[in-house]
Amino acid sequence: MSKKYKIKDIKLAPFGRKKISISEKEMPGLMELRKKYAKTKPLKGLRITGSLHMTVETAILIETLKMLGGDVRWASCNIFSTQDEAAAAIAKTNTPVFAWKGETLEEYWQCTLAALHFGKNLGPQLIVDDGGDATLLIHKGYELEEYYNQHKKLPKITATVEEEIIIEKLLRKFHKKNPNYWHTIVPKIIGVSEETTTGVLRLEQMETKDKLLFAAFNVNDSATKSKFDNLYGCRESLADGIKRSTEIMLAGKTVVVCGYGDVGKGCAQSMKSYGCKVIITEIDPICALQASMEGFPVKKIEDTLSEGNIFVTATGNRDVITLKHMKKMNDQAIVCNIGHFDNEIEMDALNKSNAKKEEIKPQYDCYTFPNGKQIFVLSEGRLVNLGSATGHASFVMSTSFSNQVLAQIFLAKNRPEIGLYKMPKYLDEEVANLHLKHLNADLTKLTKKQADYIDVDINGPFKKDDYRY
Ligand code: NAD
Ligand code: ADE
Repeated sequence: MSKKYKIKDIKLAPFGRKKISISEKEMPGLMELRKKYAKTKPLKGLRITGSLHMTVETAILIETLKMLGGDVRWASCNIFSTQDEAAAAIAKTNTPVFAWKGETLEEYWQCTLAALHFGKNLGPQLIVDDGGDATLLIHKGYELEEYYNQHKKLPKITATVEEEIIIEKLLRKFHKKNPNYWHTIVPKIIGVSEETTTGVLRLEQMETKDKLLFAAFNVNDSATKSKFDNLYGCRESLADGIKRSTEIMLAGKTVVVCGYGDVGKGCAQSMKSYGCKVIITEIDPICALQASMEGFPVKKIEDTLSEGNIFVTATGNRDVITLKHMKKMNDQAIVCNIGHFDNEIEMDALNKSNAKKEEIKPQYDCYTFPNGKQIFVLSEGRLVNLGSATGHASFVMSTSFSNQVLAQIFLAKNRPEIGLYKMPKYLDEEVANLHLKHLNADLTKLTKKQADYIDVDINGPFKKDDYRY
């Protein structure tokens, strides 16, 4: 087992604690859940690993899970997203946390492993994942042991992608000292609750291939998560990321938003509200039609390159902006990504190209091509709102994290079979309810006659499961 914590600087703890106490008041959902479950402690004695951006909001999630009885270990799910003061405040409470802003990829995966390792042959029983990296490491470790147990030797590393090689090397090193770790811990894992669109896609792919080793809870697709965090969260935190790093005037600029899903819609609306001309790229005709009906031109990326001043990827897909695209962009174009992984932009190709890279400040780089043209890349192509700013504001994270807490309680209580689960509608509505008072919203109560007329229970759920909001 690794030591108690690994963070930037424990002296930042008082600053982190101040921020946490301010933000607690902006997270009414989490505070209400603390009150509701503080006595019964539904997570009592359960070992919980978190792999989720180590921010102030996450610190409040961690402390909620602990108040409900959880024994928590944490790592960030991104090398740039940790707020060091938040990590310090959590470390100060003797919660093992392994995260700092500016980890290398090697360090990142060591931190994920440390968060998953509670002691000799002791792993988590519950996992809070964001993007699926904790789940991935467990599945890869398990696969490696399967091979070893069958062939009495470890397989050669065949991966070619740098990050995959790092994971394979780390797991081989760990295997030497802990040869049956993953097979020992997996049967005790009750399940994982997954925060984001990209992580849910990974889980769906594993389920389809019959590869899932434990139950999984899709938090992203609760209405009170994706229709709030992805949309309203990004509507504010995208601009924060762009402005904190570049200090650029947004009004009058042409912004190309790639992807018009929940995140893309928030980004486009935000940039429009600043007075930008917004262009959308999409592959889905329904989303493209939605963009058109909002008045946004929909174009192919190739046809935006000489027009755009700022490019934002929000697709959850790979290779959306390629090196070829970047070479053709306007001088001083800004390129960033708000999707979960950096592969939305061809960063590898850019870094290996003949463009000269110069750091202006951390998470803000200038690339100069041989013809003198420059582009700026934010957060090395990783989530710009968390790498170049502090992510979404507390209030919207309260809606996301209330879903996470309810999902953890659901898993602990029901111990479901392997499969992918979603929040029942009445709990989704409960999360919304927990946040209404804070905004002085006064909900209308149905009469019995009205409830019968629209065929719902007077206390909800108020919509059918497939309602799209
Ligand atoms: P979504 O599925 O609702 O939207 C993605 C959209 O991109 C879809 O409409 C899809 O048709 C489109 N798309 C796919 N490939 C494309 C391509 N090549 N070109 C143009 N469009 C393309 O997903 P979402 O919920 O909006 O999430 C998008 C990404 O953002 C995911 O990776 C998700 O995990 C991440 N996310 C980030 C944050 C954050 O704080 N940074 C918050 C929530 C979600
Ligand atoms: N995702 C987006 N914003 C976040 C935040 N502030 N904390 C944790 N995860 C986030």
